[in-house]
Amino acid sequence: MTNKKKWFESWFDTPYYHLLYQHRDDKEAHKFIKNLMQFLKIDKDQNILDLACGKGRHSIFLNKLGYRVTGVDLSSQNILQAQKHSNPRLNFGIHDMRNPMDSKFDLILNMFTSFGYFDSDDDDKMVLSAVKNSLNKDGIAVIDFMNTPNIINALVPKNHLCIEGVDFQIERFFDGSHIRKNIRVKDREGIFNYKEQVRAYSFNDFKKMLQENGFKLLKACGSYDLESFNEKTSERLILIFKIHP
Ligand SMILES: C[S@@+](CC[C@H](N)C(=O)[O-])C[C@H]1O[C@@H](n2cnc3c(N)ncnc32)[C@H](O)[C@@H]1O
Repeated sequence: MTNKKKWFESWFDTPYYHLLYQHRDDKEAHKFIKNLMQFLKIDKDQNILDLACGKGRHSIFLNKLGYRVTGVDLSSQNILQAQKHSNPRLNFGIHDMRNPMDSKFDLILNMFTSFGYFDSDDDDKMVLSAVKNSLNKDGIAVIDFMNTPNIINALVPKNHLCIEGVDFQIERFFDGSHIRKNIRVKDREGIFNYKEQVRAYSFNDFKKMLQENGFKLLKACGSYDLESFNEKTSERLILIFKIHP
């Protein structure tokens, strides 16, 4: 029996992921959180879950603003980094987003394309079901996803980058269901191959999935400034929803 790790169990646990995506930084997270919290008007005493929190850039800032936050992620390296910021109102733990949490939350955030990682759509539905089970009755959930048609239209098939002495050769393609990346990394340690894949869910796919899973869509935004979503021009697809009353 093989025990080969899935791509999402290994790639995000490497320093190379963080190097390649270093432009997705605290500044971006702070701007989004400020706009989101202004819009949602969440009470400081309510419980927030940052599902697939990475190193915790959104959780840490939310906590600085006074909120009580739990951040969870599958990557042990990310959680180790995030835990350096832990305090009585900021906790981090290792957790697979397909499983419900032990407690309930008033706001669940899933930030920066942390959805659609699995081979089967059933696993994505498990994530939605876990969100539903972990949300209080009047709670709100947010999925910050890419605007898929725009990404597919602008897909650069190949490029080469050198960041801080690490060489990245990246190939990208859309196979009809997923946007896939093959990432070849070369540095002084050697040559390593990683993969990234995200299910190419459109706005309509999400609307259908949310409805099938008993959610009501409250708002769809197209940017971290929370402009209204436009399938032709928006960079992001940010879905704000709650359990159907
Ligand atoms: C694109 S990163 C975004 C991280 C963070 N939300 C941010 O904006 O910085 C995706 C994250 O999802 C996590 N992840 C991947 N599969 C997961 C799973 N099955 N359960 C929980 N987290 C997962 C990865 O470890 C990674 O930290």
